[in-house]
Amino acid sequence: MKTLSRVGISLSPDLLEAFDRLRIRSGARNRSEAVRDIVRDRLVRESAASSRGPMFGVLSYVYDHHTGELDRRLNDFQHRHVRRVISTTHVHIDHFHCLEVVILNGTALQLRTIADQLLALKGVNHGDLFLTQAQPGLGHHHHDHDDHHHPRPRRRSRPR
Ligand code: NI
Repeated sequence: MKTLSRVGISLSPDLLEAFDRLRIRSGARNRSEAVRDIVRDRLVRESAASSRGPMFGVLSYVYDHHTGELDRRLNDFQHRHVRRVISTTHVHIDHFHCLEVVILNGTALQLRTIADQLLALKGVNHGDLFLTQAQPGLGHHHHDHDDHHHPRPRRRSRPR
């Protein structure tokens, strides 16, 4: 186990209260753990945004499959990018709507380009691309795993 450094931070009462609510919701057992999770998450994002190396993308979106043969167009699109698409999961939400989660690999630029083109298709309502990569020293928690719950970063879909 690496030695942990202790730092002090100043927060306004409002921000501290909001932070504690976030901490409880995320399942972090204490403030230190919550701060570590947030910093790690942000560093992975920063690194992914600027990296030229290979990474993984998780692209999720909801669409109305009655709109202009969208099932076929999405399928065609994914086949055109067969080298980037690793896996697609399709969920029928209701009579009209489908949710798809596409796992991609490639560079940040390639994955962003694919995501932008796909999400721009008419009938795709909202979606989000999450980029991630293995980060030596960032991906591992420095503590015993036996007694610890691991909250994972969660993304919310943004309306587009
Ligand atoms: Ni469906």
